[in-house]
Order: sequence, then structure tokens, then C-alpha cells
Amino acid sequence: MTVYEKLLHENKAWAKDQVEKDPEYFKRLEQIQQPEFLWIGCSDSRVPADKITCTQPGEIFVHRNIANLVVHTDVNFSSVLKYAVEVLQVKHIIVCGHYGCGGVRAAMTNQDLGIINKWLRQIKDIYRIYSEELDAIEDIDARADRLVELNVKEQVMNIAKNSSIQRQWKKNNIPHIHGWVYGLNDGIIKPICEMEPNTHIDPLYEYDVD
Ligand code: CO
Repeated sequence: MTVYEKLLHENKAWAKDQVEKDPEYFKRLEQIQQPEFLWIGCSDSRVPADKITCTQPGEIFVHRNIANLVVHTDVNFSSVLKYAVEVLQVKHIIVCGHYGCGGVRAAMTNQDLGIINKWLRQIKDIYRIYSEELDAIEDIDARADRLVELNVKEQVMNIAKNSSIQRQWKKNNIPHIHGWVYGLNDGIIKPICEMEPNTHIDPLYEYDVD
């Protein structure tokens, strides 16, 4: 059996197991999707949203990209956010970074990574904002870990700058936005920051929503 055939084989066994435990399992999931959470995480294979939070299919709407960035000009991201907020009406948005993030580490170097430069440049911009604090951390791993935390904090801020979010805040007093960081070494998620609905941000980013 090849490596990919093994995946298909495991899938069959999983589906059978689910039906054995609950004959209505797939029928129920097929009919309705009502997740309470939108997860914005890193593409890193070691940080699977559902596994590390013990959530089941149907519970988390997921968007992942390199270094868990909130990029409003990214049509993929913007579509996910709009759908999650306006249609699914998620109650919580979680931005989850992780210590030891390769994307964040790469952004701290001068390596030319081609098109990836454009993506990681957004992390360089965050480094520049916090350069005084970051440059003072001598240990390179500790410095990268702090940048991971600051990146999550900035992405939470970025979500609040979105007009769909601001409209939903005003209308329904949801969603709450959470910034978390996952530890690859111990499997523990550390909450970094939280933003309640209707938090006032810099007025420059506040839209006239009704
Ligand atoms: Co990563």
C-alpha cells in the first residue's frame, strides 16, 4: 500500500467507525453547518485546528495560511471572513499562531524566497513597529517567539478593522476575537489577547456601519 492509499484506507475505516457509533452522524452533518468558531491558523502541518482543540466536524470553520495572517486584499481570506461573519454568524474568531513558526522565523532573515517575500513582508512590517522591544531580546528563539505573539496581536487588530465585523458588532454584539499561540513543544495553547465586540479601535479604521 502506498502512502496515499493508506490515507484512503484510513478514511474508509474512520467513516465506518463514525456510523457504527452514530448511524445519523453524516446525515446530520450533511444538512446543516453551524460552527460557532472561525479559526485563522498557520498552514503548518503540526497545528491542526480540530485535533488540538478536540472539536468535531461541524464545529470550526477554518482558514489557514502561512503565519496566520489577516490580509483583507486576499480574496480567499476576505471571502472566508465575510461568510463566517455574515452567513454562519460565528460567535468567536480565533487567530492561532504557534511558537517556532517557520514563516515568522523566515521574516526575520534576509533570505530571498521569491513570491513568499510578499507574504512575509507583512511580518517584517510588524517587526518594524516593535523593533525596539524585539531587538532588546538577545536570544534569537525567544525573539522569534515574541514576534509570534505580536503577530497574533496585530492580526486580531486587523480583524477589527473590517467593516463586516464592525457591522456585526453593532447589530448582534458578536463575534469575540481571540489571539492565541500554540506551543509545539507541549501542545498547550496560550491566550495572548482578547477583543470584545464593539471595542473602539483607532477612529481612522472605524466605518459608518448601520
Ligand atoms: Co507557522
